[in-house]
Amino acid sequence: MSKASTVEAPPATATDALDARDTRTDQTHTLAIKEGAIRASDLKQFKTDDGDDPGLLSYDPAFLNTAACRSAITFIDGDKGILRYRGYPIEQLAESSTFLEVAWLLRHGELPNQSEYDQFVHDITYHTYVHENLRKFLEGFRYDAHPMAMLNSSVAALASFYPSSRNIFEERERNISMIRLVAKVPTIAAFCYRHLKGLPFVYPDNDLSYVENFLSMVARMSEPKYEPNPIFVRALEVLFILHADHEQNCSTSAVRAVGSSHVDPFSAMSAGIAALFGPLHGGANEQVLRMIEEIGNVRNVPQYIEGVKAGKGKLMGFGHRVYKSYDPRARIVKKLADQVFEVVGVDKDLEIALELERIALSDDYFISRKLYPNVDFYTGLIYRSMAFPTEFFTVLFAIARTAGWLAQWEEMLMDKEQKIARPRQIYIGSAERPYEAIVQHRHAAGPRMQKDALRQ
Ligand code: SDX
Repeated sequence: MSKASTVEAPPATATDALDARDTRTDQTHTLAIKEGAIRASDLKQFKTDDGDDPGLLSYDPAFLNTAACRSAITFIDGDKGILRYRGYPIEQLAESSTFLEVAWLLRHGELPNQSEYDQFVHDITYHTYVHENLRKFLEGFRYDAHPMAMLNSSVAALASFYPSSRNIFEERERNISMIRLVAKVPTIAAFCYRHLKGLPFVYPDNDLSYVENFLSMVARMSEPKYEPNPIFVRALEVLFILHADHEQNCSTSAVRAVGSSHVDPFSAMSAGIAALFGPLHGGANEQVLRMIEEIGNVRNVPQYIEGVKAGKGKLMGFGHRVYKSYDPRARIVKKLADQVFEVVGVDKDLEIALELERIALSDDYFISRKLYPNVDFYTGLIYRSMAFPTEFFTVLFAIARTAGWLAQWEEMLMDKEQKIARPRQIYIGSAERPYEAIVQHRHAAGPRMQKDALRQ
């Protein structure tokens, strides 16, 4: 088991505490404060005199102020715009690391030594092929199927090819499943792309690096060997690093919740892909481009901004649940965009994006709501400049986030405090009432059903 995938138990003693008086009973109870939090279960001691009272719940729709886990993987400071993977600043990783090195770091907690890194690259390289039946599965989709729907169902289908992956507490099984997912998701993604284009699938080329191989499976035509553009390779490597993990975002929370039922990792990852597909999450990069295409010309930007302020939609690629300052990834992506556009030339869409940002960052509507560009605002422009179709942008996000989802999934499994995720609710429905049929049921069910009906 990787030494870093376990979560150390919380500190035993806690000197800090919250004394809270329950005005219903005039009783005061003490809530221990540990690591900046109180335990929600400690609220159960607040009961009214009535013996049936189960005690207080905490109510936090969308978990705006609730920690669902303790994690050592990613640290974010939303006010200071800080993002670190296992303590390493994202700016330094983006500058000098590779996606596979980051994937190892996220899971194991430490950078790999040379032999670990070489072995990991070898293992990933030699697991990039998928079962031929999965290729046929993909060929069954319509020509205009959304690639995220194709990716989601294909990753879920992998569970049927590797039944032993359900032995999730055997490290050997977990290890090979994690290698298979990091290795095969790009292959499936590229196959989805080729299906949309009506082009024959290009199989993995083991002579190429992880990103070069992905671009080869996407773009190779009749040439015997794909010659990747080094600017695009480095740009995609950096974008994969930036998108690899982001603590308890919506899709990671979905992976942790589904994984907490102890289902296989392929099924848990497909839950993450489904959540990422949403336009408020990973689907935002696709929506940014559609928004820019809708604006059409930099002259229309002020009018579009006024529309957003009037509540006619959101400025896609802006805002974040945690970052209340500039998303540090957006800063890096913006620099990357400048490098890529030096190669492909600045286009009017970049001018529209820059004008949207300039106006938004000086307008009180956005400033007062702390709305800054997030990671999705510029990425779409880079992907588009690399000739990826708009509907494919979120697939690129999913390739990268697979590394983070896997690290978070394993950390959840190894965390002794975790159980199956099963939140409570505040019931606001009807009180008990007797059933009285209102309509005539054509096919009687229940006691009147004939005893041999089940045998028909
Ligand atoms: C990602 O969680 C993560 O870490 C996600 C992510 C990751 O790496 O995993 O970082 C990736 O998903 C980035 C976010 C991509 N989504 C978008 O760009 C879509 C546009 N952004 C918003 O939908 C929104 O900002 C969210 C969903 C990102 C965050 O929403 P919150 O935290 O729930 O904030 P909110 O919706 O309560 O908004 C607060 C106020 C509201 O105004 P009021 O009701 O107070 O008047 O800000 C407004 C919102 O209407 N607002 C926006 C806005 N985002 C929020 N107004 C205009 N444009 C926007 N983009």
